[in-house]
Amino acid sequence: MSGKLIWSDFIETCKACTDCGLAATRRNVVIYRGSVRAPLMIVGEGPGEQEDETGIPFVGAAGKLLDLLLDAFGISSEYYHICNIVKCRPPGNRVPSPEESTACRKHFATQFRFVKPAVILLLGSTAYKNFTGSDEGITKVRGKWIEKNGYLIMPTVHPAYVLRNNNARADMWNDLEMVRSKLEELGVIEPLETTPAMPSGRR
Ligand code: URA
Repeated sequence: MSGKLIWSDFIETCKACTDCGLAATRRNVVIYRGSVRAPLMIVGEGPGEQEDETGIPFVGAAGKLLDLLLDAFGISSEYYHICNIVKCRPPGNRVPSPEESTACRKHFATQFRFVKPAVILLLGSTAYKNFTGSDEGITKVRGKWIEKNGYLIMPTVHPAYVLRNNNARADMWNDLEMVRSKLEELGVIEPLETTPAMPSGRR
């Protein structure tokens, strides 16, 4: 048997997973949206109600805000792969437990090998803590590049937080701008012709 990983096998493995308690209450396993292979990997916490219902990450209000900001920077789906720390909805949208995140880690690691990102955008403290293993608060670490094993990691606030605290919108905008510039610097995306203005809406 060859050791070559096949994306469709990975999807099937995730869909059949019962390695933690979230399998009992999920409607769908939420794996990704965007491109399988992408220079930018965007990582959230876990599926919410609409994601659980559709099987697609970031389709609810937080996702609409994320898309609004990505669109303003001309970062379309060919450049990103959006996913979460856990692939099944924690009931009531609670933070996934350490056991749940640990159970999902092997799937995340496999997914990461398919995506081969250069830049990783971490949305919120659950993504930050699980991805880096560090415990600092997101407001302290956001907006500063972390270089690890040749990857460039940008932690930022979660869009759901921005929906509740509009003051944080400028922070998220600033951090996305740095991601945009980095993708340009790496030569994976064309520079924009005009400087985008921060959108004020939610979608
Ligand atoms: N919040 C997340 O962290 N992930 C989603 O997919 C949706 C909302």
